[in-house]
Amino acid sequence: MITPMLRTPCTATLLVLSFLRLFAAQGADSLPKQPFGKTANGTEVFLYTLKNASGMEVKITNYGGTVESIRVKDRKGKFDDVVLGFSNLAGYTQKLNTAYFGALIGRYGNRIARGTFKLDNHTYHVPINDGPNSLHGGTNGFNKQIWDAKDVSAEGDPALELHYLSKDGEMGFPGNLDVTVRYALDAKNGLHLDYFAKTDKNTVLNLTNHSYFNLIGSGSATVLTHKVMLDADRFTPVDSTLIPTGKLESVSGTPFDFRKLTDIGARIGARSEQLKLGKGYDHNFVLNHPGDIDKVAARVEEPKSGRVLEVYTTQPGIQFYSGNFLEGTMRGIGGIYRHRSALCLETQHFPDSPNHPSFPTTVLHPGEEFHQTTIYRFSTK
Ligand code: GLA
Repeated sequence: MITPMLRTPCTATLLVLSFLRLFAAQGADSLPKQPFGKTANGTEVFLYTLKNASGMEVKITNYGGTVESIRVKDRKGKFDDVVLGFSNLAGYTQKLNTAYFGALIGRYGNRIARGTFKLDNHTYHVPINDGPNSLHGGTNGFNKQIWDAKDVSAEGDPALELHYLSKDGEMGFPGNLDVTVRYALDAKNGLHLDYFAKTDKNTVLNLTNHSYFNLIGSGSATVLTHKVMLDADRFTPVDSTLIPTGKLESVSGTPFDFRKLTDIGARIGARSEQLKLGKGYDHNFVLNHPGDIDKVAARVEEPKSGRVLEVYTTQPGIQFYSGNFLEGTMRGIGGIYRHRSALCLETQHFPDSPNHPSFPTTVLHPGEEFHQTTIYRFSTK
């Protein structure tokens, strides 16, 4: 018979074990974290590493919630960094950097015409920072904020949760907006981005991530030989300041038809008013299966390395941008970032939606829970 005296240490041991298990399941401090630099006012920011069992590695800094690097295998098993980024904070904060490399974008990703929109009969003005328009949340958007970081890894699945409170009136937008973005890496080389938000006043928002991909490896020449598929029968044509005209135009018979895998370079130089206005591809595509996270929204294949990127999203649109504004003026981890040396697939609501009642709404009301998901999944062929 077991005496109470003997039972006591056993119970204690069990308690300790279950506590340790809980601790491990929550992954407290299991993500490697290293100093990344200090902001002008002395705040230290960090770089977190998410790594899965097959060796895929994603580094994220809480400055701007930025994906700094993504290392994945090519078809021969060689790892390369497939996104553009900098090895320290100073790279991101330098004046030359207007590219939003890897950053979380908000409060409103993409453009708002003339920085003006109406909501509940009130006209709001947000900063103008792109010709006559407001771009990516204004002069001091979410990409320049320091996010609170929390390791939320679950066994085998590294995950980082970032939190930012955008105060009522910040950059001209109404309402205190409480934003959480969770980055999680799964065992099948999928990077999951979950965006959550709540507001205490009616507001507008459009959250995305601005990673620049080059599947050969960051710093390589161009992405013109990458093949792209976009699950979109229509796109939103733009005016000379890249604001949608409001039409949803068919891609059929145009250089915007990416329904079948096509080289980016195949038609980028074609005679097309829209390509001229965008200086290449810089357009929002209307996804055929909005809200369906199981459908491939975009696919990129790079023949030399064999790397494949698939994008899944709950969002209704995707901005396909062919790195037209990269000019070879910045040197990052992979080398010099030249014209068209990367592409972006920004999952999003349509640009300037607050001024287009016919577009899917970007209004969030108090009491509603905003949640969007995007997955960037890597493989080889
Ligand atoms: C988005 C825009 C582009 C450009 C980049 C950042 O993709 O649509 O026009 O501003 O961001 O350089």
